[in-house]
Amino acid sequence: MATTRRPFVGGNWKMNTTRAAGLELARAVADAARAHPEAEVVVYPSFPFLEGVRERVSGSGLSVGGQDCAGHQTGAHTGQVSAAMLQEVGCASVLIGHSERRHGLSESDALLSMKLHRAVECGLQPVLCVGETLAQREEGNADGVIAQQLHGALHGHSEQSLAALVIAYEPVWAIGTGRTAAVSDAEAAHRTVRQTLADLYSARFAEQVRVVYGGSVHAKNAAELFGCEEIDGGLVGGASLVAADFATIIASAASRSSMRRGR
Ligand code: 13P
Repeated sequence: MATTRRPFVGGNWKMNTTRAAGLELARAVADAARAHPEAEVVVYPSFPFLEGVRERVSGSGLSVGGQDCAGHQTGAHTGQVSAAMLQEVGCASVLIGHSERRHGLSESDALLSMKLHRAVECGLQPVLCVGETLAQREEGNADGVIAQQLHGALHGHSEQSLAALVIAYEPVWAIGTGRTAAVSDAEAAHRTVRQTLADLYSARFAEQVRVVYGGSVHAKNAAELFGCEEIDGGLVGGASLVAADFATIIASAASRSSMRRGR
């Protein structure tokens, strides 16, 4: 069945760029987003640069999101940033459960479920990241880990509340390593995501949620990845910091949607 899912491309800047470099990068990405309205494009700068980047890209069609939000609504949580704060500075989206937080900061599925609640109640698009480690893949447990992460983070959430949900499948061993998942492996993992969503909610919901791939996506492999029916776009780290490369990735995602129309 041909889908009508709009391609999604996220640029996760992680803890990179100066303010000036971020604003310059945002301007270039806004031009690429404007040229390819078929794709939804979101950049995720560091918290201090969110408001400036959002102002810089205003009116371009490029959206801005936070790399994380707190599980609490407000209060004594030193160093954390709430979903409401993100919303107030103009964010449309937020990453939840990136592997650098799951593994680097020991974030649990229960905490991610709380973060998801906070994002939803503030009207932010949640981009929930899932993915297995190399050891888990080598044990033959990649599908089990993906399903378990989805069950854990989505616990207590209704289908209605998750209308804007995007899932990013990011195998941990492919992030920042230059080692991209084989298209067939990524495709199989995306099917696992969709089947788990169908089991948890409904086939209709599973068909409508965008599932994007992350992990060493670059200008040269994006077209092949996004040419796959199951892969609705990408969440990009390193290559999203290079304006020309990210523009090529955006164009690859956008042409996915015109290929589909031509079918
Ligand atoms: P790289 O594209 O640098 O592998 O990072 C992927 C990622 O973590 C996006 O969230």
